[in-house]
Amino acid sequence: MARLAGKVAIVTGCASGIGAATVRRLRADGAEVLGTDLDAVKGAALCAETGALFAVQDVSDRAAWPQIVARAVQTFGRLDILVNNAGMVSGAGIGDLDDDAMFAAWDKVLAVNLTGTMAGCRAAIAAMRDNQGGAKGAIINIASTTAIAPLPTDVGYSASKGAVRVLSKSVATWCAKAGLAIRCNTVIPGATQTGMIADAEQRMPGLIAAVAATSPLNRLADPSETAAAIAFLASDECPFMTGAEMLVDGAALAIHPGF
Ligand SMILES: NC(=O)c1ccc[n+]([C@@H]2O[C@H](COP(=O)([O-])OP(=O)(O)OC[C@H]3O[C@@H](n4cnc5c(N)ncnc54)[C@H](O)[C@@H]3O)[C@@H](O)[C@H]2O)c1
Repeated sequence: MARLAGKVAIVTGCASGIGAATVRRLRADGAEVLGTDLDAVKGAALCAETGALFAVQDVSDRAAWPQIVARAVQTFGRLDILVNNAGMVSGAGIGDLDDDAMFAAWDKVLAVNLTGTMAGCRAAIAAMRDNQGGAKGAIINIASTTAIAPLPTDVGYSASKGAVRVLSKSVATWCAKAGLAIRCNTVIPGATQTGMIADAEQRMPGLIAAVAATSPLNRLADPSETAAAIAFLASDECPFMTGAEMLVDGAALAIHPGF
């Protein structure tokens, strides 16, 4: 039987990169999926191709989160998995912009990457508590190796991803102490071949080769490799794994920077 048969998932940021690969993987593993994205054209196309349902969503719009969760529950009857994947960069270091531009960039990236993830956790837990057969679910939040080794060129992105790591642990332990079988774990991707890094390469030529070289594998991850880690955490294979983190970084953070 498929690993995620009978399960219902929401994947944010489904139109591109890791989100698109995750929709493909969860569908292949048997889950029903509601994919969401700001990009209605690419998001709808990916979902149509994979047999997923699609909804337009700005994850930073907290008022819309209960409606997104309700859409999944009304369509598929329950919610088992939330992958908080949607994210953006701000592209500014601490002293790079004037105050107005700096705080606008900071507020935006925190709203999407951090508040959007928190709002998703809240809305998902409310639905997962009511699942038929008892409270159960798996939330997977997507951080970044910049949460551990931050980018001097993007203070907002790095700080938001650092906060996502701690957010996940707080959510995980709140659920555990409340006696809810709702797990929350973080996947920490390293450089991955997606639109986000292709855009960064446009701004900073040579970036892809430089970040590939930080991994002893000397390459970027394919988004399907990150999706494989997400699918494991979404499954029931390790109920004791909550409040944990999975690095998918080609050992970039496992090696001394001098080598
Ligand atoms: N690509 C990498 O090297 C890398 C490394 C570490 C972490 N990540 C993280 O992985 C996640 C996916 O990134 P990706 O590389 O696939 O990027 P991507 O740019 O290819 O895809 C991101 C998707 O999120 C959507 N999105 C952006 N803002 C949104 C919002 N407010 N509401 C809804 N959707 C929104 C975009 O439209 C896009 O489809 C992000 O959280 C990112 O920070 C990526």
